[in-house]
Amino acid sequence: VEASLAEAQFDKEVSQNASRFDWQNFNNATLKRLFDKITGLGTAAQTDQAKLEELNNILSEMDNIYSTGKACEYDNPSNCLALNPDLYNCLADSRDYDRLRFCWEGWRDAVGRQLKDKYPRFVELSNDAVGQDAQRWEDTGAYWRSWYETADFQEQLENLYNQLTPLYNNLHAYVRKKLRATYGQDKISATGPIPAHLLGNMWSQSWINIYDLVEPYPGKTSLDVTPKMQEDVSRSLSFISYCLKQLFFAEN
Ligand SMILES: *[C@@H]1O[C@H](CO)[C@@H](O)[C@H](O)[C@H]1NC(C)=O
Repeated sequence: VEASLAEAQFDKEVSQNASRFDWQNFNNATLKRLFDKITGLGTAAQTDQAKLEELNNILSEMDNIYSTGKACEYDNPSNCLALNPDLYNCLADSRDYDRLRFCWEGWRDAVGRQLKDKYPRFVELSNDAVGQDAQRWEDTGAYWRSWYETADFQEQLENLYNQLTPLYNNLHAYVRKKLRATYGQDKISATGPIPAHLLGNMWSQSWINIYDLVEPYPGKTSLDVTPKMQEDVSRSLSFISYCLKQLFFAEN
């Protein structure tokens, strides 16, 4: 918390110094971008020191809850599993439906309620702070999206998402079929969503850990999509290949 406050103080000084230049009218685009970056304060714009401190305290507390929450065994409450590595490993390695569910739910039970109680105050304080930035962000979401430095970020994302959806739907159905074969038809609906605890990762964000369950052509070497990506400059295809690679072929 102390370091965050010192950093906010430093950011303010740098921003004040940079503001002495007429950087908005610079011709050099690189310099202009650099000045835009260092004059933007984000939450460091908060002028009320007590509120800034409270915000940094909440962030630190949430960080702590998130990383130290443990899932304790129902029948042996003194045996508690930490997120890293115990629960990561459980999600990646276990092939027992109930065990996986315990690991997925146990961590959420341990941290979810505590985080939920703190989050509204975090939102309030963060919005209050970024609203004081010279750029006057509408809210924290607008400030976070500004990091992508493109005005139509949401449209671009929507567009890519729509292009990717047909492939994703096929992939999802294929993986669901394989998981039904592993865990039983009574556990997974033939047409609905896949239970999140079966995908090998606490947030289902990478499926590489269940590759052994879904491998389409056992024994074949994995597909190298690099030449195809180099040959085809179209952004959408590169993006799709990239996503496929993330899901199946890349290490974490
Ligand atoms: C713009 O500014 C950057 C940073 O000082 C410098 O490296 C670059 O050469 C400049 N570009 C031009 C076209 O002058």
